[in-house]
Amino acid sequence: MREQFARVRESVAYLRTKTDIQPPIGLVLGTGLGRLADRIETTTAIPYQEVPHFPVSTVKSHKGRLIFGYLGGKPVMAMQGRFHYYEGHDTKQITSPVRVMAAMGVKTLVICSAAGGLNPIFQAGDLMLIRDHINFTGQNPLRGENLDEWGPRFPDMTEPYSQELVDLAERTATDLNIKLHQGVYVGVAGPSMETAAETRFLRLMGADAVGMSTIPEVIVAVHAGIRVLGLSVLTNVNLPDNYQPAPIEQVIATAEKAEPRLVSLLEEILTRI
Ligand code: HPA
Repeated sequence: MREQFARVRESVAYLRTKTDIQPPIGLVLGTGLGRLADRIETTTAIPYQEVPHFPVSTVKSHKGRLIFGYLGGKPVMAMQGRFHYYEGHDTKQITSPVRVMAAMGVKTLVICSAAGGLNPIFQAGDLMLIRDHINFTGQNPLRGENLDEWGPRFPDMTEPYSQELVDLAERTATDLNIKLHQGVYVGVAGPSMETAAETRFLRLMGADAVGMSTIPEVIVAVHAGIRVLGLSVLTNVNLPDNYQPAPIEQVIATAEKAEPRLVSLLEEILTRI
């Protein structure tokens, strides 16, 4: 744990030589959503390989750059491409960029992802605001020694997704006439997709969408006292009684199609934040 502390400090020390921006807002862009970064008025873009101790993304649809700049007029630090447990990293490695964000001054994290819809009223390409989550990954990034400097041993999870930000996102979506669902995101480890029986079970559990990311980063953000806004693009809808394959090409294509709507929504949310 102490080693992780030292590694984060070294990552931050390096980034401080590259940018003067003190980003109050962090952004994580998920599968098929990397182009959202094009809307950031970029001042500095740093490939992950150049940042000391950063893991390296192995997912083809993820570019792998840290971007500092402005979106909706606000200074942001964005991850273009994230890390997943299924790539082989442990959840501490996956979430080290969130620790780095916290140390860089991030107070609000906007976390975007592609997810499979479980609620039958959803349609592929719809957007969902994450209201709550179920950690079904079998992992927790806070396992092990707790660093009190980073956060409490037993972080409260009564409001992991800021109600204030949920309300703001709702109002903004209404004003922009963008359809935005709310729901519960269940996180699984992946990389195999869910079976029909698992899909039925996840729905019964109370989940509206399923994905292979987000949860570890959100847990660490909450631990670090960062408020979180979670947005998912529903790239496919999984109905156990009429279960269809959702190949990655389709997931990416649908995420890319939904991206302009997500960008408009995000830009306006950041303007109003
Ligand atoms: N399951 C898990 N993760 C996903 C899905 C899905 O159906 N779609 C996009 N990410």
